[in-house]
Amino acid sequence: MPTWLGLGLLLLSTVSALAQSIAPPGIPADRFPKPSRPVASIISDRWSSEDTRERIGEAANVMQLLGIRPGMAVADIGAGSGYYTVRLSRRVGATGRVFAEDIMPDYLAGLQRRVTTEGLGNVTLALGEAHDPRLPLASVDVALLVHMYHEIDQPFGLLVNLLPALRPGARVAILDANRATLQHGTPPALLECELRAVGYRQVEFHPLEAGAVYLAVFTPPAQAPAPASIVPCRGEAAR
Ligand SMILES: C[S@@+](CC[C@H](N)C(=O)[O-])C[C@H]1O[C@@H](n2cnc3c(N)ncnc32)[C@H](O)[C@@H]1O
Repeated sequence: MPTWLGLGLLLLSTVSALAQSIAPPGIPADRFPKPSRPVASIISDRWSSEDTRERIGEAANVMQLLGIRPGMAVADIGAGSGYYTVRLSRRVGATGRVFAEDIMPDYLAGLQRRVTTEGLGNVTLALGEAHDPRLPLASVDVALLVHMYHEIDQPFGLLVNLLPALRPGARVAILDANRATLQHGTPPALLECELRAVGYRQVEFHPLEAGAVYLAVFTPPAQAPAPASIVPCRGEAAR
């Protein structure tokens, strides 16, 4: 028979495992247009096995390309099971911070267990919404979106609501497979078009894994566009 104290402790540990938003909501979802192309379903908390990714040095290469260094604050948007979160945490060190954000509470609960087990004191978990990463004001130097852009139900909302969280000089880096959105990738021309529609400018493009995957880096607009002024990409770029 559990005691009241035992029940209380059980309740406390359950509550602490619940994912939470760490910033107030931004502009509501219904103010933004939907993308005029298919959005892939969320089917997993990881792109592939960490062993496979480590064999090709994926995270190390991406962090090198992005110049991730101690003291930086990085948002791992769509963190899933945390392949990047744990490696970013070690790279930015005690003076840096990693915001591990996702919209799936179960995935964040699993990641919370991993962060606790691995003793990563510089990781903050953040529950977002499809149109809003819910990150604190002026908190992020680099926002990294890995193998998840094609799953964002509201990419224009997410890109606009991300802006207040970016520090001066911040970059947004998107890694995805070079294939159709329904095949869990994003054609680079479509990505560039959708970010340009919100005022972002592509400043780097790195083909990876023999061109099957790419890393595109963007600078944000100086001012957020009015949601109603955003025109979704059509035609060639929307395939
Ligand atoms: C294929 S997993 C990739 C996870 C991780 N980034 C990796 O590279 O292994 C895609 C992740 O993106 C998350 N996701 C999908 N839409 C999202 C959104 N609008 N905002 C934040 N995360 C999202 C999913 O819940 C899932 O954890």
